[in-house]
Amino acid sequence: MSHNSDGTDINALQEAAKRHLWMHFTRMSSYADHDVPVITRGEGVHVYDQHGKRYLDGLSGLFVTMVGHGRTEIADAAARQMKELAYFPLWSYAHPQAVELAERIAGLAPGDLNRVFFTTGGSEAVESAWKLARQYFKATGEPSRYKVLSRYIAYHGTTMGALSITGLPAIKTPFEPLVPGGVRVPNTNFYRAPEHGDDIEAFGVWAADAIEQAILMEGPETVAAVYLEPVQNSGGCFPPPPGYFARVREICDRYGVLLVSDEVICAFGRLGYYFGSQRYGYQPDMITVAKGLTSGYAPLGALLVSDRLMEPFLKGANTFLHGITFAGHPVSAAVAHANLDIFEKEDLLGNVRANEAGFRSTLEKLGDLPIVGEVRGDGYFYGIELVKDKATRETFDDDESERLLRGFLSGALFEAGLICRADDRGDPVIQLAPPLTCGQEEFDFIEQTLRSVLTQAWNRL
Ligand SMILES: Cc1ncc(COP(=O)(O)O)c(C=O)c1O
Repeated sequence: MSHNSDGTDINALQEAAKRHLWMHFTRMSSYADHDVPVITRGEGVHVYDQHGKRYLDGLSGLFVTMVGHGRTEIADAAARQMKELAYFPLWSYAHPQAVELAERIAGLAPGDLNRVFFTTGGSEAVESAWKLARQYFKATGEPSRYKVLSRYIAYHGTTMGALSITGLPAIKTPFEPLVPGGVRVPNTNFYRAPEHGDDIEAFGVWAADAIEQAILMEGPETVAAVYLEPVQNSGGCFPPPPGYFARVREICDRYGVLLVSDEVICAFGRLGYYFGSQRYGYQPDMITVAKGLTSGYAPLGALLVSDRLMEPFLKGANTFLHGITFAGHPVSAAVAHANLDIFEKEDLLGNVRANEAGFRSTLEKLGDLPIVGEVRGDGYFYGIELVKDKATRETFDDDESERLLRGFLSGALFEAGLICRADDRGDPVIQLAPPLTCGQEEFDFIEQTLRSVLTQAWNRL
């Protein structure tokens, strides 16, 4: 029997994981003859598995652990809050942690996003924004507005409403019929621009205008909102072309459509600002957040809402008929405060802004590898697109992609001590989103590890 340093029986844990745990978005059969990777401990930018092996957490867990692992001051804040008031709902009551956190977030948010509706995570925030938009338009005399626009390949969550906004057919079809009203528009993948591939500004105009065309096609009186991430994650980090968001904002205003900025990944420092919309200078009507708000030390999400959208709900019997038992949980709210205190104390936004150029140029060195098509992203958020032929940008077919990503890359990167994501929800990409405390030493490790593993991958093709 082999034991961990803390006395855990490693084999028993493996057997129990295989027998009882259902991992998310995971092909469970792949663990029939492989160990389940069990992560037991985190310290700074690293995590450790049950054998004591160390990994650089190049994805911040799942775009979550902004301040890194093992922050005892956050743990202490959670313990204090549990002793003081472990739980109370926000259903007609308030507690100080939620009140003060709502005030703090409103103070950081762009423009008049002064109202905070808490959730427990990102899907609920996305779903809450759609429900709010629908009820808002019913309350303000435009009851036919219920549709939502979102971009191809964009991921917005898994609950039925959020899934209907998500633009990934493969994870939707098993659950059809979905919530009616989800409409797709083009994303901002300039590397594979169907038009204006040599002019990024013209491409941005084209992509924004496609939103206008979709609104006109559906009938503006039926469209409630458009959901966009500041940098679209799924597909491998598509930043907005210059001018894109300004034009989308104009289009939304022209047709009375709400702009929802889904910042579940992009808020809280990922792009060097508290909110991604601040980086690109646009004003959303709503922002959805989760993940980095607590750095994952406890679950919490939120929907930030403008004064205008709140207004009808401040009158008479009008009530947003929506709630979630654990939303705005006192312990999670206390954790969020402690997390944001670290952001301030250590100037994490400043760290990202000061180092992002170094991160980018380090990753761009990989451009000399034949398999690397493009490195793209902003802040501490990058996607590396893998191609079969650099000159033609030919991508891998499904079978090659399966062999490359699932059959080799994911395992080999993990084996080499780097946690990142090999993703083929669009064209195959490696995604990186390390903790905001990272610097050149970690960037170099990422580059060297990717160089070695991608070279092996190419030689196997
Ligand atoms: C942009 C975006 N929206 C929504 C979600 C859903 O969040 P959650 O998994 O917390 O429900 C995610 C999750 O990765 C996301 O990236």
